[in-house]
Amino acid sequence: MTAPTVIAPSILACDFGRLAAEVAEVAEGGAEWIHVDVMDGHFVPNLTIGPAVVAAVRAATDRVVDVHLMIEPVDAYIEAFAGAGADVITVHAEATRHLDRTLAAVRDLGVQAGVALNPATPAATVRHVLDRVDLVLAMTVNPGFGGQRYLESVEPKLVELAEMVGDRPIRLEVDGGIDATTAPRAAAAGADTFVAGSAVFGANVRSSAIAELRGAATQARLTTSVET
Ligand code: DX5
Ligand code: ZN
Repeated sequence: MTAPTVIAPSILACDFGRLAAEVAEVAEGGAEWIHVDVMDGHFVPNLTIGPAVVAAVRAATDRVVDVHLMIEPVDAYIEAFAGAGADVITVHAEATRHLDRTLAAVRDLGVQAGVALNPATPAATVRHVLDRVDLVLAMTVNPGFGGQRYLESVEPKLVELAEMVGDRPIRLEVDGGIDATTAPRAAAAGADTFVAGSAVFGANVRSSAIAELRGAATQARLTTSVET
């Protein structure tokens, strides 16, 4: 285990009427990253937010702003999200015809580039862009909604991705149905970065939920690296 565990609460599950306060609360509560789910009602069957809300999150925190674009087409919007203050922009491999070009465009704007894979998309999809990415996101639900059940069937793909990434400085993120029970499973399979919406914003004490997630995930990562 090299990279430290990162917990990234997804604001999809927060009270948008109190956005800045909600972001500040989880940042002060120990979250290293703030995850922002952008949905277009086309690539996924739900509509959420755009660059203006990313700018509001940016203004509310100095934590890493992790923007997950579930939009197609995507290329025309990358500049706006970079301009809004995103630190990481993740695009879906399924949402761009020219993945290599799209990822290069993100990095050209001085932003870290991530590539996301839906549950049914094979790990090999990212093999030839590993020199272009800072993060690989393996969706552990079908994207579109918070509060869905974690798909254990993604775990063998996480193992493959972790092997493929090897020693490269690339984060392996999981997103969907992550809680204190599923985070250790994903961690044991190779994940180091954990998005959680309901498990953090649905908790009475968000800082405790974040600490519990980090503890469970880190323990599983340590145990796994000792075994291997
Ligand atoms: C799903 C989103 C997730 C979602 C996670 O399409 O990408 O980030 O908000 O929510 P939970 O943790 O509730 O499954
Ligand atoms: Zn997400």
